[in-house]
Amino acid sequence: MPVTIRDLRAFKDRGEKFVMLTAYDHPTARLLDGAGIPALLVGDSVADNILGYSTTVPVTMEEMLHHTRAVARGAHNALIVGDMPFMSYQASLEEGIRNAGRMLKEGGAHAVKFEGPLSELAHALVDRGIPVMGHLGLTPQSVHAMGGYRVQGRNDQDAERLMIEAESMEKAGAFAIVLEGIPSEVARRITDALEVPTIGIGAGPHCDAQVLVITDLLGLSDRKPAKFVKRYANLDEEITKAVTRFREEVAAGVFPDEEHSYH
Ligand code: KIV
Repeated sequence: MPVTIRDLRAFKDRGEKFVMLTAYDHPTARLLDGAGIPALLVGDSVADNILGYSTTVPVTMEEMLHHTRAVARGAHNALIVGDMPFMSYQASLEEGIRNAGRMLKEGGAHAVKFEGPLSELAHALVDRGIPVMGHLGLTPQSVHAMGGYRVQGRNDQDAERLMIEAESMEKAGAFAIVLEGIPSEVARRITDALEVPTIGIGAGPHCDAQVLVITDLLGLSDRKPAKFVKRYANLDEEITKAVTRFREEVAAGVFPDEEHSYH
């Protein structure tokens, strides 16, 4: 049975931790779906992890739709969340509604995520049948406004503001909230206060769920990983080894051999 937003809430109600992973293409979506990952986020992190941009700011609505469609074609069980790119929802409520609608209608997503405490937009989308995942704390689309990727909510006032933002997003109808780059203790307090699940990234162990960027988890990146990233594989090394062997075997006349030739 395909995963729904109600299933994610049920994980929290049962006290069962769950995961979400980013996916940007068909083969990855197929593998993650097959491995039982319940939620796939087509993150705007496609920008700096796949498309070669240095931040998430430049990625466009068309690029996000292109990747969301590929993921939707590859996953048949997971809940697919389409990330709203920078300036697809900030200019006006109407633009946000139209672009969120496109994410479901043209992208094949089941829900959308956007950054920041825009509870009016969350309410408007939920009212129109578009499930919303919130994203608070370190919000990468605001990298220039934050003066870099900085942990948020470190002092009492900022922690209190985050709590108010999380509660306002829950009240507006968000079905889950990503908490990024905040102290563990602040994430714990927010998680305890909310009925909807919190999904942490760089927010410590007390969130109801954890999300990682798939290229970080797989070690498919030449960037120094952030403190919160755990590498479960080293695909950079595996891929380099495989293609080097291919190059060497062709040069040595070992490939293609009889087994890989037609007669
Ligand atoms: O785009 C993304 O990968 C995200 C995660 C960090 C939650 O928003």
